Amino acid sequence: MHSVSLLAAILASTSLVAGHGQVNRVTHGGTSNAGPNIYFAGAAANSKTATRVMYQASSPAFVLPGGFTDNKQMSCEGSANNPAPQSISVNAGDEIDIFWEGATGELKGKPGTGSLTAYNPWVHAMGFVFDYITSCNGDCSVFDATNAGWTKIAHAGIDMSNTISSDLRATMKGKPEQYYPTSGPGLWAMAKLVQDGSKWTVKIPSSLKSGQYMIRHELAAVHNPKRNGDASTGPQMYIACIQLDVKNGGDASLPAGTQAKSLYSPNGDFANISVLSGSFDPAKVAIPGPPVWDGVSSSSSNGSGKAAVTTLSKAAAPTKATTKAAAATKAAATTKASSPSPTTSTSGAAATSAKACRRRRGITKRAKRSHNEPLRRMVQNRLS
Ligand SMILES: *[C@@H]1O[C@H](CO)[C@@H](O)[C@H](O)[C@H]1NC(C)=O
Ligand SMILES: *[C@@H]1O[C@H](CO)[C@@H](O)[C@H](O)[C@H]1NC(C)=O
Repeated sequence: MHSVSLLAAILASTSLVAGHGQVNRVTHGGTSNAGPNIYFAGAAANSKTATRVMYQASSPAFVLPGGFTDNKQMSCEGSANNPAPQSISVNAGDEIDIFWEGATGELKGKPGTGSLTAYNPWVHAMGFVFDYITSCNGDCSVFDATNAGWTKIAHAGIDMSNTISSDLRATMKGKPEQYYPTSGPGLWAMAKLVQDGSKWTVKIPSSLKSGQYMIRHELAAVHNPKRNGDASTGPQMYIACIQLDVKNGGDASLPAGTQAKSLYSPNGDFANISVLSGSFDPAKVAIPGPPVWDGVSSSSSNGSGKAAVTTLSKAAAPTKATTKAAAATKAAATTKASSPSPTTSTSGAAATSAKACRRRRGITKRAKRSHNEPLRRMVQNRLS
């Protein structure tokens, strides 16, 4: 009995470690704002970041269906060191690029990851990407997002007019986390993210009134379908909350939005999605969550909630006008005002490497008396 529970604990901790990752940095107009150091609250980077610490960021970093109805877990609250101290200054209508980093090096240097070698690529390739926004009602650095209403500004599922690269398909098979569909068309939004160098682009609606806002950028990984009675299974939601100071805005105020606890049902079609089965039909995948706000200045992203092809907006396909939607978006794009400097600008080379994680685990095991010095070194490595 004892050894069985010990084994279970070891297996659990192994999967937790394998599951984490975080925002490496957010870039905008040639500037870069590093994500928080999730291992050491006192790190210098943490006084300069605009990205909040995710719920249980250091492990497992995701929220499972059992947590879908928890407003705090689902909105980056309930973590130490929140909110973030800074906001990134952007103009309404601008784009920000969010770079994800895996906590483990499974995909490092592997084909299909967009030549990313500076740090670990994001490790999952099947899943949705959602972008929500809420007003901070003033200063984001003191905003409690627990009961915020979230407005969806973009979402993406599987683009059936596109295909995962053969390189990334082979890489995922070797991970091993085989990609479904195993052949033929179907590019999951998350595969696109990995192929693009673990990057996702979010466009701030140009109609939005000036003010401080928080982006709730969410990766929903679906590689471990829910099994009855196993609370560790189901879609894994990786939620990044990024604080923005939006300038030169339009006239639009956000609608009331949806509280984080009401975005997805813990027992709905999305929570139950089973992409690994032979009967899985990628063409029938509905995009979960509320519709995309019609105030997003694009005739395409109207949030019908179906067929990803028609809803892959500019956020999903910033450089490739592969769909009518993207083409329309491109045509509608106005000249971008030059971007002011963000309030912070730090080295984007932050690296929560597997090495750092191992080191940190080693530290935890050792006596706590020498706790700070190795952590400081780790932070320095991370920032160098
Ligand atoms: C999802 O699965 C649960 C059992 O785990 C079931 O009770 C529920 O009805 C399913 N939901 C849908 C929408 O099929
Ligand atoms: C939204 O999209 C759906 C199909 O994707 C379409 O039937 C509907 O007319 C669109 N609504 C608007 C207001 O554009």
